Amino acid sequence: MNVLGIETSCDECAAAVVEDGRFIKSNAILTQIPFHARYEGVVPEIASRKHTEWILPVVKEALDSAGLSVEDIDAVAAVSQPGLFGSLLVGLTFAKSFAWARDLPFIACNHLLSHLYACRLESGGAGGFTGENPAYPFIGLLASGGHTVICRMDDFDRVTVLGSTIDDAAGEAFDKVAKHYKIGYPGGAAISALAKKGDCEAFKFPLPNLKKGFRRCDVSYSGLKTAAINQRDLFSKKLRDENEDIETLKADVAASFQEAAVEILIRSLLNAVEDTGITVIAAGGGVAANERLRERLAGCSGLKCFFPPFSLCGDNAAMTAGLGWRYLERGERSPLSTPANSRAPDFRRGF
Ligand code: KG4
Ligand code: ZN
Repeated sequence: MNVLGIETSCDECAAAVVEDGRFIKSNAILTQIPFHARYEGVVPEIASRKHTEWILPVVKEALDSAGLSVEDIDAVAAVSQPGLFGSLLVGLTFAKSFAWARDLPFIACNHLLSHLYACRLESGGAGGFTGENPAYPFIGLLASGGHTVICRMDDFDRVTVLGSTIDDAAGEAFDKVAKHYKIGYPGGAAISALAKKGDCEAFKFPLPNLKKGFRRCDVSYSGLKTAAINQRDLFSKKLRDENEDIETLKADVAASFQEAAVEILIRSLLNAVEDTGITVIAAGGGVAANERLRERLAGCSGLKCFFPPFSLCGDNAAMTAGLGWRYLERGERSPLSTPANSRAPDFRRGF
């Protein structure tokens, strides 16, 4: 069964065709990064307007590169929550209209569950998969620009949240630190690229010490972000008094910040492993592209860790099409009246 997936929750306008919830036939992503870069952040109004312009071309690209026509599509899945409301509306409305016009089943997907499904896809080897997927149950790590969740996954939609961020998301911290030090946009990829040239011990960052009332797997990023910004004085002093090169200093900040940001995730993941006895971890979301995170987890003995190929870490529609098929396989459908929702209120508690 060929499912057409549509993803427009933020600034990627994406469409994909996935067969039987697993095999990626196409994965088209039109990124809006150049349009938001001058504002150093996503501008919701620009995002929704670009989605309106690009939704048809991106669906056409997904069909063309899969070598399929409209008649070959058996069902349509689209993200309905969470995300930017105006952006969600474009993809959701397009998907419903497509399904209605062709009398096809329609499935509304949760964007966070989609990220947590990315490791279950098979991209034919080209995307970096070895052919092995994590079997349930596993510990899911969802780390993106808007969310950081550590959970137990017993099925694609059976989630027990073990911890989440109590303030900023991991990706958000990367973005804000990159913006402050003018490292580049989007911040996560820019910091991780620059960090390769830096000394991760050059700047000292405190790790959060979450006290009573928080779960063992909760994480916090606002302290780290503030500490990174407060290193500005030391940064300026090194620049002025010690005559250090600004690019070297930026690389050192990037490496030191990244080391601490990754350590926060590792600690919570190890707590989740200890608490559940589950030693398989599968990651998803933009931060899952972080190479230092991958390296650190690979170095943890006794764990088996799965990461999606880079093309499936950030927002994409293949994960949505794959997830959608799982509901269809169970005989479920979403009504065409399903609304867009900028928040996913259930997710902190689990499903
Ligand atoms: O999943 P995603 O594409 O969109 C959301 O659902 O938010 O995640 C985007 C986030 C951004 O904050 C971006 O800076 C971060 O993922 N990111 C990274 C890396 N690549 C993207 N963070 C750390 N290291 C990376 N290599
Ligand atoms: Zn996302």
